[in-house]
Amino acid sequence: MKRKLLITGGAGFIGSHVVRLFVNKYPDYQIVNLDALTYAGNLENLADINEKSNYIFEKGDITEETFIDALFQKYQFDGVIHLAAESHVDRSILDPLAFIKTNVLGTAVLLNTARKHWKGNETGKLFYHVSTDEVYGSLGEEGFFTEETPYDPRSPYSASKASSDHFVMAYYHTYHLPAIISNCSNNYGSNHFPEKLIPLAIHNIKNNKPVPVYGKGENVRDWLFVEDHARAIDVIFHQGRIGETYNIGGFNEWKNIDLIQLLCRIMDQKLGRPEGTSAQLITYVKDRAGHDLRYAIDATKLNKELGWEPSLQFEEGLEKTVDWYLANEEWLQHVTSGAYQQYYQEQYQKR
Ligand code: NAD
Ligand code: DAU
Repeated sequence: MKRKLLITGGAGFIGSHVVRLFVNKYPDYQIVNLDALTYAGNLENLADINEKSNYIFEKGDITEETFIDALFQKYQFDGVIHLAAESHVDRSILDPLAFIKTNVLGTAVLLNTARKHWKGNETGKLFYHVSTDEVYGSLGEEGFFTEETPYDPRSPYSASKASSDHFVMAYYHTYHLPAIISNCSNNYGSNHFPEKLIPLAIHNIKNNKPVPVYGKGENVRDWLFVEDHARAIDVIFHQGRIGETYNIGGFNEWKNIDLIQLLCRIMDQKLGRPEGTSAQLITYVKDRAGHDLRYAIDATKLNKELGWEPSLQFEEGLEKTVDWYLANEEWLQHVTSGAYQQYYQEQYQKR
């Protein structure tokens, strides 16, 4: 039977890679991409698949109950992959309520609507919630996040994601809504909005602007190429066990300052600058409030149960990413004009 799939947040960074993968790989599925097109949503990300016959875009807000109900009525979805969210930690510090609204209320509206439409007919349905490793809090020098690590969110963003995860599990246990969650580490790759560390640094290096490094640059993140995350979502959506959580990670930890140094070397090469030129732009600025020290994912369960593993070495992925940004100047110009400038001032001027 033809599957009817709702993907939320498909015009964003990770969502656009997931939509592309599913539209191209599953021509028999009808894929509806629902996105509110906030500052982070951009239909240019999907220009290459826009005309595909199995793809439909719907503009709308996941917090609007009546609209979401009408959408389920119209398409009779049998699967949901939920990515729509406010996703940037620094913005959650500036405006926490926006995160509670979209990430908590929006997820609850989707869950409730799926429950209503699937009630008594749950077989073959799946609500797949895409979450983050930040729900587990902050690690010290050692250890990894496993699926059993207790939740300990510490930013408004991670608290809102943790809350949404709890609602997913509450709907699974209380109403038997077929649900799965995955918690992934930091993604990087093409179409990443330049408020996040890697695309922001690429953009600034290219334009000879200071590269802001928070605190001493000693915080550690575990980086995964975004297309590998999309592949993991595909595998989990089709083969994951209902009611389970799967951690997704790159086995690829980097201190921020080491990552930025590597990026500066790649940028020098690509831009034909003498080695060491870009590194002079590195500027230590005031630390992020409540800055989590280290994230590191243990993705053994996903590897052992479903055979997934990352496909790319970090250096290779980072080079591919830089190449994409250098070849897509117009995309960068579009997303950094207007409101981006205002955000940048507010976020960085006093640091
Ligand atoms: P993003 O900010 O690039 O994209 C979010 C998308 O959601 C945008 O297209 C935006 O327009 C849309 N959106 C926002 N509010 C909406 C609303 N109320 N209704 C409908 N659409 C709305 O985010 P991303 O980095 O692609 O992250 C996608 C998901 O993956 C999020 O749930 C995030 O928590 C999770 N995640 C991200 C990372 C990462 O490193 N970026 C890692 C792990 C998990
Ligand atoms: O771990 C998964 C999470 O990764 C996702 O859930 C989030 O949606 C995603 O934004 C990301 O969160 P981080 O806060 O880790 O990503 P960000 O790119 O904002 O920051 C990465 C690290 O770099 C972090 O330690 C803060 C630091 N940083 C960030 C910015 C924007 C800087 O030093 N300077 C900066 O200008």
